[in-house]
Amino acid sequence: MRIIRKVKEMYDFSYEQAELNGLLIGLVPTMGYFHEGHLSLMRASKQQDDITIVSIYVNPTQFAPHEDFKKYPRDFDRDCQMAEKEKVDVIFAPSDEEMYPAGYTTFVEVEELSRTLCGKQRPGHFRGVATVCLKLFQICHPEEVYFGLKDYQQSLVIRRMVKDLNLPVHVNVLPIVRESDGLAMSSRNTYLSPEERKQAVVLFQALKKAEGRFAEGERNASLLKELAEREIQTAPSARIDYVEVVHPQSLHPLERIGEEGAVLALAVYIGTTRLIDNVLLGVKTFEE
Ligand code: PAJ
Repeated sequence: MRIIRKVKEMYDFSYEQAELNGLLIGLVPTMGYFHEGHLSLMRASKQQDDITIVSIYVNPTQFAPHEDFKKYPRDFDRDCQMAEKEKVDVIFAPSDEEMYPAGYTTFVEVEELSRTLCGKQRPGHFRGVATVCLKLFQICHPEEVYFGLKDYQQSLVIRRMVKDLNLPVHVNVLPIVRESDGLAMSSRNTYLSPEERKQAVVLFQALKKAEGRFAEGERNASLLKELAEREIQTAPSARIDYVEVVHPQSLHPLERIGEEGAVLALAVYIGTTRLIDNVLLGVKTFEE
């Protein structure tokens, strides 16, 4: 497995493989500290593509000053071992100076979609995500890129950017990988104390309750939302950031769930750790 740290080296290598040798490149953008969710994306690329590039970069522009950029978990050696086991071809791990050299001033903003849910609570977050992803797509020449449904809003922002800017990449969005008790895997789960970890399952339980009621025929969005909120409130360490039932494409809040279905998305603090999760309610397809 090759480890590349320089933008120019990554650009030249992937350009040669894609444009000159005609190989199909898959890119999995990550911030590292791998878990099974990340590995599922790598496996999908390994199945589909000739070359799998995994980027590991904790992107400073998507964190607000008060957020956890500094303490975000990092273990490059462990990540490399895990990626190597998955037969990943290249790890791209640039420095901040490589990605945002002095004088850097260009940003991409996906309007509307970036402003609700996590975007409302974290202004500027999706601007940072879109910008770094566009840069990674430019540098790595992928035809296929892989994202997780865990970050539903992020996957929509990326799809929108790809469409609006006519980027020649196909966005694959893969299912949420969960722990055995249902907690969605996340690098941030390591922040939880053992007691908080037990309580964190309440996010999944809340989604399950609402999903069950939806399956029984309930289409009133506020009712499903309240059901989820009440479940979350049973955990003493939980504090709701948002719980919303939204349209699967526009992310506009819904009153009633119609033919196109909905996404129940939530962000909850367990102690000081902010966790997100979601469930699709009657959404038939993610492909446009
Ligand atoms: P990160 O949180 O490391 O996640 C990298 C990718 O893994 C994202 O597409 C995310 O949705 C996916 N993922 C995370 N947990 C998952 C789970 N439990 N099941 C399935 N997929 C999961 O998301 C980011 O990094 C960054 O914002 C990034 C896109 C790399 C831009 O900096």
